[in-house]
Amino acid sequence: MPSIVVTDRSGETRAIEPPTGGSLMEALRDAGFDEILALCGGNCSCATCHVYVDPEALSILPPMSPDEDDLLDSSDHRLPTSRLSCQIEITQTLDQLAITLPPEE
Ligand code: FES
Repeated sequence: MPSIVVTDRSGETRAIEPPTGGSLMEALRDAGFDEILALCGGNCSCATCHVYVDPEALSILPPMSPDEDDLLDSSDHRLPTSRLSCQIEITQTLDQLAITLPPEE
């Protein structure tokens, strides 16, 4: 299982070790990060699963779809490192990935 380091909105950092195969959104939700609302259930239509990823990790993530890009444009807090966590599958490649939860919309 990959280890993913998560910094929440209060600035606290915690490592999680989700099983492979699910999405990063599901992993965050299952680990109790209630800031991740995931209102659309992972269907890439709400943007409430927004996260910032470590800039160095952008290249190992799956490419962003046009739909994800459009949804992120609706966020007041979009950064170059923004991704929707429901669009990122947990794989061993993500081991040591660092992510940060953005401010509330
Ligand atoms: S959970 Fe809705 S876009 Fe990711």
